[in-house]
Amino acid sequence: MKQVLSYIKKNKKGYVEELKDYLRIPSISTLAENKKDIEKCANFVAGKLKDAGLNKVEIFKTDGHPIVYGEWLDAKDKPTVLIYGHYDVQPVDPIDEWTNHPFEPVVKKGKIYARGANDNKGQNLVHIKSVEAYLKTVGSLPVNVKFIIEGEEEIGSQNLGKFLKKNNKMLKCDSVLISDTSMYGDGIPTINYGLRGLCYMEVEVVGPNRDLHSGSFGGGVANPINELAKIITKLHDKNGKVSVPNFYKNAKKITPKEKANYKKLNFSDASLAKELNVGALQGEAGYSTLERLSGRPTLDCNGIVGGFIGQGAKTVLPSKASAKISMRLVPNQDPKEIAKEFTKHVLSLAPKSVKLNVTEMHGGLAFLMDLDNPTIEAAARATTRAFGKETVFTREGGSIPIVVEFANILKAPIVLMGLGLDTDDIHSPNEHFSLKNFELGILSSVYFLDEISK
Ligand code: BES
Ligand code: MN
Repeated sequence: MKQVLSYIKKNKKGYVEELKDYLRIPSISTLAENKKDIEKCANFVAGKLKDAGLNKVEIFKTDGHPIVYGEWLDAKDKPTVLIYGHYDVQPVDPIDEWTNHPFEPVVKKGKIYARGANDNKGQNLVHIKSVEAYLKTVGSLPVNVKFIIEGEEEIGSQNLGKFLKKNNKMLKCDSVLISDTSMYGDGIPTINYGLRGLCYMEVEVVGPNRDLHSGSFGGGVANPINELAKIITKLHDKNGKVSVPNFYKNAKKITPKEKANYKKLNFSDASLAKELNVGALQGEAGYSTLERLSGRPTLDCNGIVGGFIGQGAKTVLPSKASAKISMRLVPNQDPKEIAKEFTKHVLSLAPKSVKLNVTEMHGGLAFLMDLDNPTIEAAARATTRAFGKETVFTREGGSIPIVVEFANILKAPIVLMGLGLDTDDIHSPNEHFSLKNFELGILSSVYFLDEISK
């Protein structure tokens, strides 16, 4: 172990340079124009896995973006850990709000800024470097390791889902290790025991067959933007509850044990409000902020377009408007059912004067892990060893839809070893990742492999 740790210490500057190279590849999964970069990035990851000393590294083509696989299976009679991550990233807009180019990484005050720095390149490179440190010093790993680094997490992991079902034998493992979530706070080692699910919809409101002069027609013809706004307003009631019928019907309740755990975390509403520069926080009545952020289902409008959005003023009554609306789900809520209920409800809210097109974009199930599990305990010991503090357990508000499929298909416990911070601005301009957490993450990973080998 000593040599592994000193190897990491000696090479940590180099790791940052490697992370920069990784971050320079604009592997945006949702944009067709970045297809070449996606391929380049898959090759880059495969190269890193080879350099780390894995025995077998392979890039699997899919109907979408390639899946990178690697393995080292020479630890006889020892358990196997499957490490998952994603090399694809979100788009960079609004680009004007970045202080550096999103694909020209910059280090400032101990943080590295670039798209993907936290989500997820920084967090998955952690595990590649931990495995490498063992193989380059001890020459072996304390357990067997398989890597799956995919390129479609940010667009729903459709092809990885199929790949999992087809290759469940090859991916057989005793635990799954993932760092693609957040720590409870800076310096506080965290294991996440839940993820929310997702149901993502698009609502288009169509009015007159063409844009109209708002003077000649305004007041006599329904304005799709006005109507869309009215619909959105009706999606919550005055208590902040989602008004889609049956939305909460199957939603798993927060247990008393969890309530106690939430309380123990001592969350401060005031400091979050201050950090976000908002006058107050807001949400579903009857729940604390932490509960609202991870244990309760929610509905949010993610984007809205319509009419004239250029500079200056133009008087126009637009012919259509649309909004992207997502719902975060908790266990036992079925995204397909929710999509149906949402569609029915939204259609019922529209007046005759407009037509509605409601489309389901993608979805995924929520995930909840039982904390009384030896693998989770091993993970908590590992993060505590690395960060030198007691590990806390949180439910994550974000989603990683493939995790439920890992749990169901591979039937192995899932360790969500969050290394990011909620303030790292993932999916947002100036995404960053703390180099301290990058380094302590590598140590956490090293310790985890050690802990579960025992
Ligand atoms: N790394 C995130 C998940 C996450 C979000 C962790 C927030 C911690 C805090 C992941 O890459 C992600 O963005 N997932 C998407 C899911 C999707 C596009 C289907 C999400 O949560 O929006
Ligand atoms: Mn993401």
